[in-house]
Amino acid sequence: MTPLGRIIRDRIAAQGPMGVAEFMALCLGHPRHGYYVTRDPLGATGDFTTAPEVSQMFGEMIGLWLRAVWEGMGAPREARVVELGPGRGTLMADARRAMGPLAAAETWLVETSPRLRAEQARRLPGARWAERLEQVPEGFALIVANEFLDALPVRQFIATPEGWRERQVGLAGDRLIWGLSGPLPGLDPAPEGAWRETSPAATATAREIARRIESHGGAALLIDYGYRAADRPPGWTLQALRRHAPAEPLASPGEADLTWLIDFDALGADLAPLAVRMATQGAFLGRMGIGQRAAMLAQARPDRADSLADALERLTAADAMGTLFKALAALPPGAPIPPGFAEDA
Ligand SMILES: C[S@@+](CC[C@H](N)C(=O)[O-])C[C@H]1O[C@@H](n2cnc3c(N)ncnc32)[C@H](O)[C@@H]1O
Repeated sequence: MTPLGRIIRDRIAAQGPMGVAEFMALCLGHPRHGYYVTRDPLGATGDFTTAPEVSQMFGEMIGLWLRAVWEGMGAPREARVVELGPGRGTLMADARRAMGPLAAAETWLVETSPRLRAEQARRLPGARWAERLEQVPEGFALIVANEFLDALPVRQFIATPEGWRERQVGLAGDRLIWGLSGPLPGLDPAPEGAWRETSPAATATAREIARRIESHGGAALLIDYGYRAADRPPGWTLQALRRHAPAEPLASPGEADLTWLIDFDALGADLAPLAVRMATQGAFLGRMGIGQRAAMLAQARPDRADSLADALERLTAADAMGTLFKALAALPPGAPIPPGFAEDA
């Protein structure tokens, strides 16, 4: 068992089973053994690769989006650019190259991992840091997040004949095992097997984004993997990834990444009263001109044409990241449709 596994085991032995959200918060954020505290998990040598690490084109398209939205709002001078969970800082470093005068705006990075903050500092001179969005100064803000919400702790519930129960982590001897709480009062009955996931931290983040943009203006672009109501998965979505392969979430606490799939319709509702638009990542990047950008780069560097074509495919194709990943834009109520999005979505 991992050192963090032993800490969790002792805590459960003393206090009883813990909910999935508490387990996930410890696995990812424990101050000594948390997954994001002890390592840089990104890239070929880590556990997973995110879109900004696939190609510079991803961050560049986001930079173009930020600039276009900012200019469409009258290019306010006091704008701040805020990124939630910036990883290695790659997305923002690439975006800055495409942001024109907006690249000079104050940049705030919301990051809890000291290890990743050091990486971000190397790539993003002049940036400032906050532990939470609430700590970023109030004002017009352009907020970006890629694969951030899916790293926030999630609670899981299932309907049983006795009522809704919450999924928990308990102990069998020395081993961590899955279990269920007793029936929870006060929840609407549902057919046996119905499931729900809620993330109080993700909901609070969405509400804080909405409050800020409604009060001071700005926009948010949130990209993550997740689903709409029409393609809701058949069951709970918590998953563990270790060295680019799926793992059992209880097997190695603190040494595997844990994520869940974002329910984009629920996220849109949490962003009320903002105007929300959604698109698949593939459609969003395509409308922002990633195909033309790939062609330009390939013309300048014919030796890189194959790897650029691979990266374009990986970011946009339906059987790669193009469909499972979705982009959500949130703007002040009544704002026109931003670039990258369409009327019908
Ligand atoms: C999956 S990584 C994504 C990194 C980056 N956005 C990318 O696309 O490469 C999640 C990021 O969120 C950060 N993070 C996780 N939980 C956090 C929290 N509660 N508050 C702030 N940052 C957090 C991690 O340290 C990491 O930078």
